[in-house]
Amino acid sequence: MKVDVLTLFPDMFSAVMSESMMWKARDRGLLDFRARDIRDFAQDKHRQVDDSPYGGGGGMILKPDVLVRAIESVKGDADTPVILLSPQGRKLTHAVAAELSRLPRLILVCGRYEGVDERVRDLAISDEISIGDYVLTGGELAAMVLIDAVVRLIPGVLGAEGAQHRDSHADGLLEGPHYTRPPEFRGMGVPDVLTSGHHADVERWRRQGALKRTWQRRPDLLASAELSDEDRAYLAGLEAGKAD
Ligand code: ADE
Repeated sequence: MKVDVLTLFPDMFSAVMSESMMWKARDRGLLDFRARDIRDFAQDKHRQVDDSPYGGGGGMILKPDVLVRAIESVKGDADTPVILLSPQGRKLTHAVAAELSRLPRLILVCGRYEGVDERVRDLAISDEISIGDYVLTGGELAAMVLIDAVVRLIPGVLGAEGAQHRDSHADGLLEGPHYTRPPEFRGMGVPDVLTSGHHADVERWRRQGALKRTWQRRPDLLASAELSDEDRAYLAGLEAGKAD
């Protein structure tokens, strides 16, 4: 996947994109990432990228000529999605990340200040995404969150160590508990089933752990999760106070 980010702060991406899984994805040739400075597309001598809003009200707005020039120059003729990160976008979920992970190329536009001139949306933006109902000082952190959530789903990025199918949200449920060595820590042990060697029992225990955690913390997710008859029976037991 090729990802171009348009930003006024390209250096913000260096650490995140040069460590851990994002670096591995680049190193393995699965991600071609570039952060481009919007200011490089300003043509006046002060390299101005923003201006005050018509109608007053304070704050600054990214100028449409500079931003559209930047988008058109990275996009070429290609039919590539151009995604604006903004609190007004559709919310980033696992389903949205999975949808984007199947695309060969993304262009991400990071807003700053009060936002972008509306004509940029009309002319050059094909999608708008928010990472949550709060306001950041700019789209850069949101773009990094989106890239991380999307790139880890590209086949080969997590390699054999990945267990994305068990991720929270991958099947509409939160992940249940996990344990590793030592077998006893500060007086607390590890559930026997995990060391029993019975694969089917371990899978059932994990499934029930995911169901219970979702039921406790995000019961809203259960309405749209894919549930088997056995799952429903277990949840009914939890509701009745019988299962644990
Ligand atoms: N820019 C500012 N706030 C944002 C948010 N919540 N999501 C995406 N981009 C943003």
